[in-house]
Amino acid sequence: MKRLQDWYQHPKYYDAIFGDDTVGEMDFLLALNRRFGTSGRCFLEPACGAGRLIAEGTRRGLRMVGYDWSREMLAHARSRISLAEYRVHLYHARMESFAPAEWRGEVDLAYSLVSTFRYLDTEQAALRHLRCTKALLKPDGLYVLGFDLTDYARTKCEHERWIGKIGRDRVVCNTREWPPDRGRRRARMRNRLRITGPGKDWLIETEWIFRTYHDGQIDALLARAGFETLAVFGFDHQIDRPLPTDTDRLDRIFVLRPAPRAPAAGQPGGP
Ligand SMILES: C[S@@+](CC[C@H](N)C(=O)[O-])C[C@H]1O[C@@H](n2cnc3c(N)ncnc32)[C@H](O)[C@@H]1O
Repeated sequence: MKRLQDWYQHPKYYDAIFGDDTVGEMDFLLALNRRFGTSGRCFLEPACGAGRLIAEGTRRGLRMVGYDWSREMLAHARSRISLAEYRVHLYHARMESFAPAEWRGEVDLAYSLVSTFRYLDTEQAALRHLRCTKALLKPDGLYVLGFDLTDYARTKCEHERWIGKIGRDRVVCNTREWPPDRGRRRARMRNRLRITGPGKDWLIETEWIFRTYHDGQIDALLARAGFETLAVFGFDHQIDRPLPTDTDRLDRIFVLRPAPRAPAAGQPGGP
């Protein structure tokens, strides 16, 4: 067995696992855009990875902006999209700082659906990301942010397993999340991708740290960043079944909009 590291250096195997939900996710985003947003056609994906949703958006005629810090993932995204044919703009950039002048106030809907937000491992990094993304949105634009909240009482490892296929290769993906460190707001993560096929037996192992949130922690952060929450959904993407405010589900997709600014002193409605 050949041992390798960092699944983001092997985008096609990442895609083999996470590609299946892409059409449903884009349907969901378009429905949110119609129901809560501007219905406009400019979408942004922070940390767009190998570009599965960017490619799907272009197929639906959207103007797509994406960025990622992994050059391998971006190269894969570029290879699957005809940049000349579609209005697609891809950048090598970080979530903590991407806010170029040409996109400020231009974006109808930004989205990050699969817990990528938790890579931002300090309050400052998460706040910077939220503020940068807000600066890119139109005043009525949306940021659709999906990630798992943390049950701080959990004492056992969590385990998820998916199986995919790419050509003649079989891909088995096992992800573990260790019990959270409540004080430091961190959880240790590990992913193992086992790829077997003709002449191939690979194990790609990746370890990283995710930041942890409970309800109060994310609510406080969003308020500090200047977002209001319009609705919350689960990872099943049921547009007609928003989660109640007292839900105990941990999988959350927050539909966020820049909060209206309080009127300044001396302005109508102001102090
Ligand atoms: C779980 S993948 C999600 C990819 C894509 N959004 C999708 O749904 O398929 C996470 C991506 O986040 C990127 N990433 C992690 N931290 C980042 C950061 N600070 N700035 C930019 N990209 C980052 C990784 O390179 C990786 O491509």
